Amino acid sequence: MTPDLSTQYLGLRLRSPLVPSSGPPTADVDSLKRLEAAGAGAVVLPSLFAEQVQSEGLTLVNYLIRAKEQYVEAASYLPEPEEFRIGAENYAELVRQAKRGLSIPVIASLNASVPGRWLASADEIERAGADALELNLYHLAADPAITGSAVEGSDLEVVRAVCARVKIPVAVKLNPFYSAIAHMAASCAAAGARGLVLFNRFYQPDIDLDRLEVRPTVNLSASRDLTLPLRWTAILRGRVAASLALTGGVHSGQDALKALLAGADAAMMCSELIQNGPRGLARALESLRAWMSARGYESVEQLKGSLSHEHCPDPEAFERAQYIKAVSGYHVSALT
Ligand SMILES: Cc1cc2nc3c(=O)[nH]c(=O)nc-3n(C[C@H](O)[C@H](O)[C@H](O)COP(=O)(O)O)c2cc1C
Repeated sequence: MTPDLSTQYLGLRLRSPLVPSSGPPTADVDSLKRLEAAGAGAVVLPSLFAEQVQSEGLTLVNYLIRAKEQYVEAASYLPEPEEFRIGAENYAELVRQAKRGLSIPVIASLNASVPGRWLASADEIERAGADALELNLYHLAADPAITGSAVEGSDLEVVRAVCARVKIPVAVKLNPFYSAIAHMAASCAAAGARGLVLFNRFYQPDIDLDRLEVRPTVNLSASRDLTLPLRWTAILRGRVAASLALTGGVHSGQDALKALLAGADAAMMCSELIQNGPRGLARALESLRAWMSARGYESVEQLKGSLSHEHCPDPEAFERAQYIKAVSGYHVSALT
């Protein structure tokens, strides 16, 4: 029997749990159509940044230029940077085009850190027909004078402002650096968020030793990056009244299965699609389907969360803060 791959996310029914996350692969309608054809359950459009921070390399355009330079393979299917200088004025148009061209849900994305005039674009996005809105709280708490609770309070103000503004479901893309992630997650849900996306990945600068300068870098993930969002997905599943999407390190069907078993409603992909295009998603979906059939799973709903904190036989394994057990079992065969 072919397993039913559909899943509920943000109150929407997705035909599959694999969702291209916000980033270059979802920046134009042609690539969106190819991702739909490859089996995506929904798509998250690139973020509209509240402030167009061109100079710091935070914008998608700059990301894209670097992705194309660093990953030669990507050059063939990622759009040209000038093709999608996404400004407030044409973001709604991208949403409209995506809605016209696709039959899967289209999730728009706003990237912000404080409430401001940009909030009006949430209305525009809703009017343009987006099925949901992802709010990326891109905020680096770099000021030593600002406390953790002040950071959380200000982030929650943004969540509340957006959720009060639109009727479509809002998901909040959190970063993993809050001191009390579970409390922050619950507070987002209390502020009106219907979903949480775990986790936001910050752009990480590097240092160029030849030029003695700080170099912006596009760090694509690998499957080993999955463990952080996996742990928090498992911990939050069933404890927070919100849908959960996992993003970070999903490159294969196995990675997606782990996400689902931990309790994610959707497994999002970006780096894999930058590296391998829609083929990467099709392959992951096929191996997910094959694994489910081989194990006799009838549906994604059936396996979702079965190894979450509340259901797994050793829940402590997710919470164990001290790692004596793990490191004491680690043997180095030979040091040269
Ligand atoms: C080049 C690039 C651009 C991205 N742009 C955005 C963005 O505009 N908005 C956003 O919320 N996330 C953005 N992301 C983050 C991805 O959506 C995703 O959460 C992150 O890369 C982790 O998933 P992955 O391991 O599948 O890459 C971007 C990531 C990359 C690599």
